Amino acid sequence: MLFCIIMKTIIEPFRIKAVEPIKFTTETERNHILQEAGYNPFLIKAEDIIIDLLTDSGTSAMSAKQWAGIMDGDESYAGSRSFYRFEEMVRLITGMKFIIPTHQGRAAEKILFSIVGEHGKVIPNNTHFDTTRANIEFAGAEAVDLLNEAGKHPEIIADFKGNMDIEKLEAFIQERGVEHIPLVMVTVTNNSGGGQPVSMQNIKDIRAVCDQYGLPLFIDACRFAENAYFIKKREQGYADRSILSICQEMFSYADGMTMSAKKDALVNIGGFLAMNNQELAMQCRNVLIVTEGFPTYGGLAGRDLEAMAQGLEEILDESYLHYRIRSVEYLGDKLLAAGVPIIEPTGGHAIYIDAKRFCQHIPSYQFPGQAVSVALYQKGGVRACEIGSVMFGKYDENQQLIPPPMELVRLAIPRRVYTQSHIDYVAEVIIEVFQNRNSLKGYQIVYEAPMLRHFTARFAPLA
Ligand code: F0G
Repeated sequence: MLFCIIMKTIIEPFRIKAVEPIKFTTETERNHILQEAGYNPFLIKAEDIIIDLLTDSGTSAMSAKQWAGIMDGDESYAGSRSFYRFEEMVRLITGMKFIIPTHQGRAAEKILFSIVGEHGKVIPNNTHFDTTRANIEFAGAEAVDLLNEAGKHPEIIADFKGNMDIEKLEAFIQERGVEHIPLVMVTVTNNSGGGQPVSMQNIKDIRAVCDQYGLPLFIDACRFAENAYFIKKREQGYADRSILSICQEMFSYADGMTMSAKKDALVNIGGFLAMNNQELAMQCRNVLIVTEGFPTYGGLAGRDLEAMAQGLEEILDESYLHYRIRSVEYLGDKLLAAGVPIIEPTGGHAIYIDAKRFCQHIPSYQFPGQAVSVALYQKGGVRACEIGSVMFGKYDENQQLIPPPMELVRLAIPRRVYTQSHIDYVAEVIIEVFQNRNSLKGYQIVYEAPMLRHFTARFAPLA
């Protein structure tokens, strides 16, 4: 059994061989930096951040073996040895017949939906991630979220808040007509809903509905290993199963998948598309050749394929996943003990602060999530990401904000990057901001782009 289950302290299951310095700033300096950046953490230079929790994507620390793979990668244009190693690893985990490398997750989405999505088509998911939704909409199709009810309530405690609502899925297929649905998708874990896992039973139930209507099922698999770990810990019958065999079972119910390797393949760049349907794979490869590259490298260098193959092997290590999930929960426990409202239970890759409850005095149209994320930077140089009215707010014909259901601030934890004392520091910063929450002020937008405004918007604090 794992040693860390016997002792209470969960240590990082790695030693650190290479380090990067962190530049420290003072609160006065950060006030100035914030002003320059228009109070938008996306516009702050990374070197001015003390702890960067903007995303867990592409921010992993690679292992010594991955770096060795970078040196050892075969850069042949066609038929690279690194491709075959990568293909073999993906096939072992997923059982998929056709494996197509891409430069990142959204490139896989773009290829898939440029083929199966068109005007009049609609693709259901538990919750589409922004880029998935954007690629579907860009292809002229519609993206629909069918998350179960518990997943929409930050305060409800449930094991699998990422599950799709099966009854809604059936009703949806009947209402829209099977001919308009090219495929059903499920995202594991459900990033946009708090990194919450999807149960094996739910995946089986989705499969059964797909079988009934003859529909293919695709998994958005970015955080598949974190999802498998939750299944092992929380779902009956999986406690004694290896992570690999749980992953194999998950993918056995799917006809295809899209993957951002920047998450659970522990690399800084990479992704892939995989499927069992030969005809569709041929079409995808044809688009790939135009947009990404030859099918054995697909927008990547041989060294990237090598690092991905190695990362996919390492992610299946249970002591890594134990540490990973526990370290997110550890931060969550500290915040909850101090009364900070977060999405419960904690998910796989991030803590989501419920900004609506955090600063009840700031209405949605003054962007409470923005207020919290600016304050976290101001107080401690911690960078987080608003996922609320700035990111998803829409406006009615009178220019009144239609806020999304939740005002969240995501603190995504990069893999293998920060130690427990970094996390203790983050908790201290958040708790201090929480204790002084009544002094937080709302924000107004002074500049915004017509699309995806959160990346470049500039704000001004309200008096
Ligand atoms: N699907 C999910 C569930 C994701 O979380 C992401 C990326 C993608 C697809 C797209 O992958 O970035 O490689 O093109 N999520 C990152 C994040 C950006 O911060 O959550 P990509």
